[in-house]
Amino acid sequence: MMTITKETPHIKPNGVEIAESILLPGDPLRAKFIAETFLEDYQCFNEIRGMLGYTGTYKGKKISVMGTGMGPASMGIYSWELINVFGVKNLIRIGTCGAMQENIELYDVIFGMGAATDSNYGHQYNLPGQYPLTASFELLEKAKKIADDQGQKVHIGNILSSEIFYNADRGANKKWQDVGILGVEMESVALYWNAIQARVNALCILTVSDHLITGAKTTPEERQTAFTKMMEIALELA
Ligand code: HPA
Repeated sequence: MMTITKETPHIKPNGVEIAESILLPGDPLRAKFIAETFLEDYQCFNEIRGMLGYTGTYKGKKISVMGTGMGPASMGIYSWELINVFGVKNLIRIGTCGAMQENIELYDVIFGMGAATDSNYGHQYNLPGQYPLTASFELLEKAKKIADDQGQKVHIGNILSSEIFYNADRGANKKWQDVGILGVEMESVALYWNAIQARVNALCILTVSDHLITGAKTTPEERQTAFTKMMEIALELA
């Protein structure tokens, strides 16, 4: 039998399957940690540029997990290839964000129902107006139900997907806070656009790693391991 080996400039699975549902942390080492900690019979499907990806099973279901890197450009490349070359249908970003509202605390979980952005990523479609970037309702509804069943409180609403971490405009965050943005991250704009364009499902689940109002922060060590609340939702969802 002939094996069709698909590959792209950035993902070379060497015959290892990529599942229809994938978890997408920004950090490839977090992808490794998730595979080692939560998946059974996992195999590595990508090592190009150190952007580690794994496929294994969780409660008998085949799922994949892969790093995306930071920012819309990196997320744009990996999610586009996963969707359009490898046929991935459910993409669940599991990331961190900076909280932008008083009632949100470190380690709280946020579902990005919609994403505001300062990025030009969507300009490629040459639309004659603005487009509301939203998560897949199917995934969002299912994720909310899982969180409720687990007794986990989550915040659901609009996030800011920015392409700038170190913003020269010191007042920018305040303006986004004033219009109710829950938290800021840097990847969902590209993920949501690619999913919307290809009619597949995407959802961005975030754990608060730092607080833009109080200045509170978690350490990098805590970031890698302490996000089990979010993981428990994401693994059930996948
Ligand atoms: N800004 C952008 N992305 C982030 C932040 C932030 O403060 N925290 C975690 N991801």
